[in-house]
Amino acid sequence: MTLTGARVVDPATGRDGVVNVTVADGVVTAVGDQVEGRRVDLDGLVLAPGLVDLHVHLREPGREDAETVATGTAAAAAGGFTAVCPMANTEPVCDHAGVVEQVLRLARDAGHCDVFPTGAITRGLRGDELAEMGAMAALGVRCFSDDGMPVRSAQVMRRALEYARTWDAIVCNHAEESTLTDGAQMNEGELSTLLGLAGWPAEAEEVMVARDLVLAHGRGARLHVPHVSTAGTVELIRTAKARGTRVTAEAAPHHFTLVDEAVRSYDPVYKVNPPLRGKADVEAVREGLADGTLDAIATDHAPHPPEQKEQEWVHAPPGMLGLETALALTLTELVDGDVLTVGQAVAALSTKPARARDIDGHGGPIAPGAPANLVAFDPAQRWTVDAQVLHSRSRNTPYAGTTLRGRVVHTLLRGRFTYRDGALA
Ligand code: DOR
Repeated sequence: MTLTGARVVDPATGRDGVVNVTVADGVVTAVGDQVEGRRVDLDGLVLAPGLVDLHVHLREPGREDAETVATGTAAAAAGGFTAVCPMANTEPVCDHAGVVEQVLRLARDAGHCDVFPTGAITRGLRGDELAEMGAMAALGVRCFSDDGMPVRSAQVMRRALEYARTWDAIVCNHAEESTLTDGAQMNEGELSTLLGLAGWPAEAEEVMVARDLVLAHGRGARLHVPHVSTAGTVELIRTAKARGTRVTAEAAPHHFTLVDEAVRSYDPVYKVNPPLRGKADVEAVREGLADGTLDAIATDHAPHPPEQKEQEWVHAPPGMLGLETALALTLTELVDGDVLTVGQAVAALSTKPARARDIDGHGGPIAPGAPANLVAFDPAQRWTVDAQVLHSRSRNTPYAGTTLRGRVVHTLLRGRFTYRDGALA
């Protein structure tokens, strides 16, 4: 099969131009003028390496009312993703080999995209005893996180970094100093006082990130900072990278598109952890993505069923869907806003997250011999987000009714369509 006429954007080779891509037996076999086999016309579309999401919640096992591996990976394929990394805060927690094996099996059976489970740092996410990191690493787990729960103890965090370094694996700590966020409901500021909601101060994130950067630097270990939401965090990471700390970082689309003003509505669809911040923070996150301080855009796709999410603000769980809107939000807000070029956007959504997580075969290059993990999107198409037609089992997107630019047309996993002509294959 030859994909013809697309603008191929491949950060791994630096290619950006119209060229044909031939795929056979799951791999790219030629890039050039050739037309071999069946022709698939991609005129007017962008063809890029399949997107890679370092931070999703697939909820299975245990919370299948919110999402399953099958529905979450279907949403991923519809969003242009060929690889996702689910967090460990399932029930039971992914803190031992059995859950890793279960998630891998469910993902293989569903077949929508590749899944690279994140293992827990500590047993039950309780923050005291280390999880079975070695047994999980033996199954290919490359990253450990108690996401949703911070590792409070510096001693435990230091041991985790030291142990992970044995396999050159990555530790990702939920960046929240919880003694500063007791009962917190939204970003701390004038607005939280006005609304009578307990504040989640920027310093709670920054104190934890600063501690972890010091520990990772001292141990020579790899740290990944999730969902960066404040200007201070961006600056800490910038400084650490300059001094050679082995750190990568991600930002979520909601942290570069929405501000805490949205909370005035008391609509819990805007409740998320870390919370939506002020304009200066949003601006700093955008700058961090532009200058590469923040490596990746990761969704923190966090499905919750309506009976839980649509409660009064203080009772609603934090989290938002992300997989089916991430690409279009990046194009609409960051590319149209002159923050990133299309090539940089593809790098932040695919090439750089794949490298940050040692995921071979994803993120490009689009070159002979490489697995054909690809996304084709229409950069011109405008569409309005309709929560009712998302592939996720849950509906909690703050973007319902928003018109965005850029729509996924096809997603290919090792040369097989997982999403084709705007529908699940
Ligand atoms: O908003 C969030 N939701 N932040 C987290 O860290 C966890 C996540 C969840 O699991 O729902």
